[in-house]
Formats: sequence, C-alpha cells, structure tokens
Amino acid sequence: MQTAQLLAQICGLPRLEARMLLEHVLQRSREWLLAHDTDPVSAEQAASFLTLAAQRRQGTPMAYLVGVREFMGHRFEVSPDVLIPRPETELLVELVLKSCRGMQHPRILDLGTGSGAIAVSVALERPDAMVVASDQSVAAIAMAQRNAHALGAKVQFWQGNWYEALPSEGQFDVIVSNPPYIAATDAHLTQGDLRFEPKDALTEHGDGLGALRIIATGAVSRLAQTGAVWLEHGFEQASDVAQILESSGFENVQTFPDLAGLPRVTGGTLRNL
Ligand SMILES: C[S@@+](CC[C@H](N)C(=O)[O-])C[C@H]1O[C@@H](n2cnc3c(N)ncnc32)[C@H](O)[C@@H]1O
Repeated sequence: MQTAQLLAQICGLPRLEARMLLEHVLQRSREWLLAHDTDPVSAEQAASFLTLAAQRRQGTPMAYLVGVREFMGHRFEVSPDVLIPRPETELLVELVLKSCRGMQHPRILDLGTGSGAIAVSVALERPDAMVVASDQSVAAIAMAQRNAHALGAKVQFWQGNWYEALPSEGQFDVIVSNPPYIAATDAHLTQGDLRFEPKDALTEHGDGLGALRIIATGAVSRLAQTGAVWLEHGFEQASDVAQILESSGFENVQTFPDLAGLPRVTGGTLRNL
C-alpha cells in the first residue's frame, strides 16, 4: 500500500518538490497532506505522481507539471504553450502602474502577452483602464483569455504579429512588452527550464534585439503624446535598448534593475515634437 509519505521518500525529489506534486495529484492542501501523509493513496494517484516525479527529475519545470504559477499574487494557468511568468517581470507591471498613476481610463497595450500575466495583473490593479494584449501564438492567446476570465480581468486580446495584430486605429498611454530577447546562438536556450519553454517566446531567431527594435520603433505611432514604453530585456542589452529608444524619439530613457540587481527593464516617454 502506497502512502504520500512513502511516495515522497522513494521519488528522488527534494521534499518541497515532492510535496508540491503530491498536493497537485491528490488535489489537497499542504495542511491536509501534513495530517494525512500516512493515509493510503490509490494506485492511479501513485502512478500519476511517479510519472510527474520522473518528468521533474528529467528537468520539466514544476510550473508545467502542476499547471500554475503565481505572478503579482495571482494564480496563472500555464502550459508548455506559454512562457512561465518570472518574478522579475513584476517590475514591468509596477512601472506601467506608475506611468498611468493619476490618469483616468488609461489605455495600455501588452505586446507578446503569453499567459496574460502582465495584461491581466495591470487590468486587475486598474479596472478603469482599457487593457489590450496581443500574441502571435494562438495557444497563448487562448491561455491568456482563460486566465483573464478566471481572475475576472477585463482585457481585449488580439492574435497576430506585434502591432499588425491590432485594429489600425487607436492610441495608447503605455506600451509594455517582455518580448523574446535571447539571441538564437545563445547556449542558454538548450539549458535548464528554457529547454521546455516555447522557442518563439524566448528568441526572435536573430541577434536578440529584433523584437525589441520592432516594438520600440512601432511604439512611436501608437503612443499618445508623452506616452510611455517599458521593455524587458537581457541584462547585457540595456545600453542597446536605451539607444534604440533614444534614436526612435523617446526621452527620459531609464533602466531599472531586477531583483538580482541586473539591468532588466528600460523605458522612456515619447519626445514632444
Ligand atoms: C518572453 S514571452 C513573454 C510572455 C509574457 N508577457 C510574460 O512576460 O510572461 C514573449 C511572448 O511574445 C510572443 N511573440 C513572439 N513573437 C511574436 C510576434 N512576432 N508577434 C507577437 N507576439 C510574439 C511569444 O509567443 C510569447 O508569448
């Protein structure tokens, strides 16, 4: 007879990971599991747990195994169709909220929304805002729509290539994006969690700056006067992104560090002509 305690001991995973998978398979809380870890577990549940544990040992990210990841205090559904939202991306949300502080009904665009983490979090903080989000991946848009619905956020979604996905008219007060920015030749793409994430979410298959260039230059005609843009990028890309923004017509260009102190987000406001 298998019990949760026994399964945790034999699965070859650190205790915390075994517990997370057990909570997921048994659909029980941590508290329940602590009190019932010597209860018998059904043969199907034991088999599901051991399959997930084997996938985890081979490196599949925990978020894909349990199907959720927390971002800005909300639980987002995730699958291998979308990038797993990262804690450092919360900085983008904070900067967007700061940029539209004091504005009524701000218009916000999130390009490459993935799971919808940024757009949905912003919409939940600013229910008066018009939040629009796009992605070229059909599966990502479906996932983002599910997350918006489950969390009660009002977001308009469009599927397609960057700005081309959007209706031709309409301007925004803030444009935000965490685009694919890893160079196609970067060895990290074949390591760790990245091996399991969608390639198109990680790289634009060029030098890593291609999507950032398209988004920065395209923002000029899509932003209202003095509108702001905020872009996440690799920690070695800050000066390139700042230069792209300045030469595209942005001023007050600033870079902010992530939780590890690495330059991670750069943005600015549209220069008044
Ligand atoms: C780094 S992920 C970011 C996902 C999400 N915003 C987040 O921060 O967790 C980049 C996203 O851009 C999307 N993407 C890649 N190329 C695109 C394109 N040409 N047009 C629109 N979206 C694109 C990917 O499908 C992916 O969802």
